[in-house]
Amino acid sequence: MDKLLIEGGTPLAGEVAISGAKNAALPLLCAALLTREPLTLTNLPALNDIDTMLKLLAQMGVKVEKVGAGGTASATANAVTLDASGLDNPVAPYEMVKTMRAAVLVLGPLVARCGEARVSLPGGCAIGARPVDQHIKGLTAMGAEIAVEQGYVHATSPRLKGARLFTDMVTVTGTENLMMAACLADGDSVIENAAREPEVVDLANCLIAMGARISGAGTDVIRIQGVARLHGATHRIMPDRIETGTYLCAAAAAGGQIRLTHTSASYLDAVIDKLMDAGCAIAIEHNALTLKAPPRLKAVGIRTAPYPAFPTDMQAQFMAINAVADGTAVIRETIFENRFMHAVELIRLGADIRIDGNTAFVTGVPKLDGATVMATDLRASASLVIAGLVARGETLIERIYHLDRGYENLEQKLAALGARVKRVK
Ligand code: UD1
Repeated sequence: MDKLLIEGGTPLAGEVAISGAKNAALPLLCAALLTREPLTLTNLPALNDIDTMLKLLAQMGVKVEKVGAGGTASATANAVTLDASGLDNPVAPYEMVKTMRAAVLVLGPLVARCGEARVSLPGGCAIGARPVDQHIKGLTAMGAEIAVEQGYVHATSPRLKGARLFTDMVTVTGTENLMMAACLADGDSVIENAAREPEVVDLANCLIAMGARISGAGTDVIRIQGVARLHGATHRIMPDRIETGTYLCAAAAAGGQIRLTHTSASYLDAVIDKLMDAGCAIAIEHNALTLKAPPRLKAVGIRTAPYPAFPTDMQAQFMAINAVADGTAVIRETIFENRFMHAVELIRLGADIRIDGNTAFVTGVPKLDGATVMATDLRASASLVIAGLVARGETLIERIYHLDRGYENLEQKLAALGARVKRVK
């Protein structure tokens, strides 16, 4: 299994391009299931989670073709055309879903288009129970018959009916699943308490380009007028705001100055605010961001909550920067239970962290020391990379397959910024 070897202590300098957003790409790939016509997605990141989703769609009978910028077939291209005209197997088996919870996003589109779906209950990151009861509740309200048997959700419905949908908590993939299903339902739907994440808006924009009638995406009430069919479209996937935030944190902690291109500050207000509180200077351009780190960061408290508040997917990275900041930071995680697994690994590098329930107290130390640590989930792994860049000596991160799920060309991008990072087999 691959490991990442980091020699810390080098400030970062230079420029990297941010990739397309994983969390936007995954639901967008599933949107292809809603139509018999081809859907082309550009700015597709090369990530293991994307490959898993493409394999899953191919197994269902979707034709998947990676295409180059000029429209020619190419293995290295960052665009894909999906043709679901031959969709004949509306099943998502356990072997596929267990590695990636987002596979549950096929459920809504499959029932809406095929009248039937069999989807394994998800696995994915080990960050809490993460049930899918809200997805099921919503589809049931739209008239689907649902049985949960032998670890599978089996949903059937000749045609879904528009309905008022209310989720008990804000759920991102829940909102996306129900929004996609409602596009082909008979009549009007309203999703209340909808997630306002930019990835939900990106999906809505693509669905609208496919002929869907959606209003209110980006607010907590989304209205959808069902239509009989959707058509093909071409859509550019939005930049990855979590990848952007992760590189900003890497430079904030390691020191130096970096510029990130092909991205936007507009989805990152909460994160940029906190980095400025920590003492970083941030310059915002139309499609780029520059961060200059202070000689020493100041501790910054955070509380995770649904968008537009501070994202849970940036919590681990902020624990890493607080580990070397001046002062004590209080970090509250309100979205997922059990999302502090990176804390014990950071402590192995010399961090001073105390956990009490969903709250972490992080007191910055002047220096961390390299050690062998284990990546436990995607964003936890990112926090270990950041800590490794700061630590004296060598840090060896094991189980980096988590990083390959969500960070495109991580070593190359870090190396372009002057970090001493290498992948070892
Ligand atoms: C998405 C993101 C993930 C991010 C998370 C929160 C994708 C592919 N993944 O995950 O990176 O960390 O949003 O911003 O977009 N819940 C239930 N029942 C449900 C659904 C959710 O109890 O049916 C709970 C979850 O356990 C969690 C909370 O609701 O405590 C929010 O989860 P949710 O927004 O659904 O996360 P995901 O969509 O899986």
